Amino acid sequence: MDSLKLSTILLSLLSLAIITQAQDPKYLIYSCSDTTTFTRNSTYQANLNLLLSSLSSNSTRNNINGFYNVSAGKDPDEVYGMFLCRGDVSNSVCRNCVNFATKDILKKCPIGKVATIWYDECELRYSNRNFFSAEYDSPVFFSNINYVTFEPERFNQLVAITLSNISTRAASAPTGDKKFAVQQANYNSQILRTLVQCTPDLSTPDCHRCLEGAISKLGNCCDRKQGGIVIFARCTIRYELYEFYNATAAAEAVPAPPPVALSPPPASGSETRRKGKVDNALFNCLVAI
Ligand SMILES: *[C@@H]1O[C@H](CO)[C@@H](O)[C@H](O)[C@H]1NC(C)=O
Ligand SMILES: *[C@@H]1O[C@H](CO)[C@@H](O)[C@H](O)[C@H]1NC(C)=O
Ligand SMILES: *[C@@H]1O[C@H](CO)[C@@H](O)[C@H](O)[C@H]1NC(C)=O
Ligand SMILES: *[C@@H]1O[C@H](CO)[C@@H](O)[C@H](O)[C@H]1NC(C)=O
Ligand SMILES: *[C@@H]1O[C@H](CO)[C@@H](O)[C@H](O)[C@H]1NC(C)=O
Repeated sequence: MDSLKLSTILLSLLSLAIITQAQDPKYLIYSCSDTTTFTRNSTYQANLNLLLSSLSSNSTRNNINGFYNVSAGKDPDEVYGMFLCRGDVSNSVCRNCVNFATKDILKKCPIGKVATIWYDECELRYSNRNFFSAEYDSPVFFSNINYVTFEPERFNQLVAITLSNISTRAASAPTGDKKFAVQQANYNSQILRTLVQCTPDLSTPDCHRCLEGAISKLGNCCDRKQGGIVIFARCTIRYELYEFYNATAAAEAVPAPPPVALSPPPASGSETRRKGKVDNALFNCLVAI
């Protein structure tokens, strides 16, 4: 009896380990300061290690809505850090992603004082400056390398309008709640998928301002592109012509209104379209301004 229980437990643990292993987050991109660096065994490094373990351990808490920010140490060696998980990912996926990120970032950026790493599921960042103040928060944006060919100007408009529309929805969530919204729209018999998210601590006007700022950057990266991402410390926008979030989980998190139509389907319908997932390798044009 006891040995049966034990083997059941072992088996569950084993399958848990397998599931956990299978859930490595999907890496997108990272940035790392190469001139602002720390020396090994410095106070900064000790503070950074403290910060990373605090981020990692706090990611297991259930009531944080996928967000945690913290600082470690004292000026001039103070380190500020945060993580933000995508609004539709489960707590376990979130904590797994953050945990992975705390190790992965040090491999990719061993001595940089300022670093950020992005995955589909979460983002983790740290800096010697408080990026929560707008002054030090510069956006990063990148795009899918593929262009749309059908009515590109109207596609740009559809992207901006849809993102703007859901920005209002995401921002209106009470401070402390998940500020997250997704929306589909029809585009030339394809489906445009859009996502916006603010850190939960932002007020409605601050979240809205941050998202509108992100949308206004689309022209810098994403004109006529099939997909794009703009990331500030406090908010993120993304759109693609494929499903990059879990629509079921997102609908559970926030109810989605019906799709927005661009225009009636084209009469010709003869244009060939490639379907399917866009590979990460197709992302390019990382720009920080
Ligand atoms: C850093 O500290 C470790 C142990 O505290 C020591 O073994 C190592 O030699 C130190 N490295 C440097 C570069 O000082
Ligand atoms: C969260 O991080 C704080 C430091 O910011 C630490 O004191 C606390 O133990 C952590 N909480 C959990 C649940 O790990
Ligand atoms: C985390 O963010 C909140 C809200 O912006 C801020 O008030 C707080 O000081 C930050 N915490 C740390 C430890 O930086
Ligand atoms: C904005 O969203 C609302 C529902 O939230 C919808 O009724 C409206 O049609 C949308 N407008 C645009 C321009 O997307
Ligand atoms: C999407 O979310 C739903 C509901 O949370 C979950 O049951 C499903 O396994 C998720 N799908 C994927 C591919 O992660």
